[in-house]
Amino acid sequence: MNHFEYKNGTLFCEEIAVSEIAKEVGTPFYLYSKATLVRHFEAFDSGFADIDHLTCFAVKSCSNIGILSLFAGLGGGADIVSGGELYRALQAGVDPRRIIYSGVGKTEDELRYGLKSGILLFNIESEQELYRLNMVAADMGLQAPVAFRVNPDVDPKTHAYISTGLAKNKFGIPISEAVDLYVQAAEMENIAVKGVSCHIGSQLTLISPFIEALRKVKAFIQRLADKGIIIEYIDLGGGVGIVYDDEKPPHPREYAKDIKAELTDLQATLIFEPGRVIVGNAGILVTEVQYTKTNRGGEKEKHFVVVDAGMNDLTRPSLYDAYHKIQPVEEKTKNRKTVDIVGPICETGDFIGKDRDFPEVEQGDLLAVMSAGAYGFTMASNYNSRPRVAEVMVSGDKFAVIRERETVESLIQGEMIPDFSGE
Ligand code: LLP
Repeated sequence: MNHFEYKNGTLFCEEIAVSEIAKEVGTPFYLYSKATLVRHFEAFDSGFADIDHLTCFAVKSCSNIGILSLFAGLGGGADIVSGGELYRALQAGVDPRRIIYSGVGKTEDELRYGLKSGILLFNIESEQELYRLNMVAADMGLQAPVAFRVNPDVDPKTHAYISTGLAKNKFGIPISEAVDLYVQAAEMENIAVKGVSCHIGSQLTLISPFIEALRKVKAFIQRLADKGIIIEYIDLGGGVGIVYDDEKPPHPREYAKDIKAELTDLQATLIFEPGRVIVGNAGILVTEVQYTKTNRGGEKEKHFVVVDAGMNDLTRPSLYDAYHKIQPVEEKTKNRKTVDIVGPICETGDFIGKDRDFPEVEQGDLLAVMSAGAYGFTMASNYNSRPRVAEVMVSGDKFAVIRERETVESLIQGEMIPDFSGE
């Protein structure tokens, strides 16, 4: 359940009409409901209330510090994948002992930054990364806490671009080879072996791949125990899917129940890295219709609604052919026809929705692109020199801008016209 609902034919976010906010902040903008963010965080986290666990929100899904600080206040940690995300999490007040660092390509500087900050765990993804971390930690006179991300070779049955736990994907260390690496790590002076981590993909709508991966991880932990290596943390990654259209993902409660049923015989703290399931349906993108047009001359007439948000603002439709429900902010029903809802970017791939059965809309109407809270703003770019849009959070009958709209001046910040006249 989320707090975006029509009241008397106009879309509200909690207790404020979306059109009121648009009047003040202009369009396009991302709009998040605080009550929905809290509700979804708690829906996930409370499923594990009876066992030792840590919910580390996946910063990559929605990285605004206003949102990160909200989850920190609810006892959440952060799953980060870069030095930039670490900086954000710390600025938002996330306790470093609740931060875990994933990703295949951590640089030496990033490892150093993580160590200096005292984070809970580095999820190591290769042998070379282990050696680099050991070297950096030795140089700093510290011990680095690590888990290894094992790749269980499980098919998550999701979009190929966001499937991460198959042997052919770049992520993790093949589970069959990882024991040797643990043995090496256990002998390293500046490494403290703490955990096992496993993330198989995103937008999973079935629980069975999670369970299949977990069973492989359990067997793996037993093999480690046989070598005298004891695991304190099991990180099961993120990945629970959400409803964009007609998907039927498991409720987080069901996911928690099934995971816990598998873990009765294990003594370890569980770590989760959910992103989409918490923020996906807690945010929308609001955009304004600029033009409507009909192109004739092809086999059939083609109707377009041109809006002021493009693929640079919401990349998912262009990149993954992802579906986002789109609806007029003021409810309309008349003269439905099939339209493409497209942005202003100079690319045919710039669309927000294709072949939608849509009521007649006109210049100046507002449209809400639903389920845009996850991987929305965080994947936005300045392509076509478009300033990135504002982010706004609603709480009850109040709203706050949590990121200002960029300006044209900010577009060229740091750029310089070189002077080679002395050559
Ligand atoms: N942990 C790790 C190591 C991950 O790679 C990811 C997502 C997550 C956690 C969070 O997964 P979630 O709970 O959000 O499914 N841009 C794509 C999604 C990319 C997901 C990448 N990894 C999209 O828009 O669908």
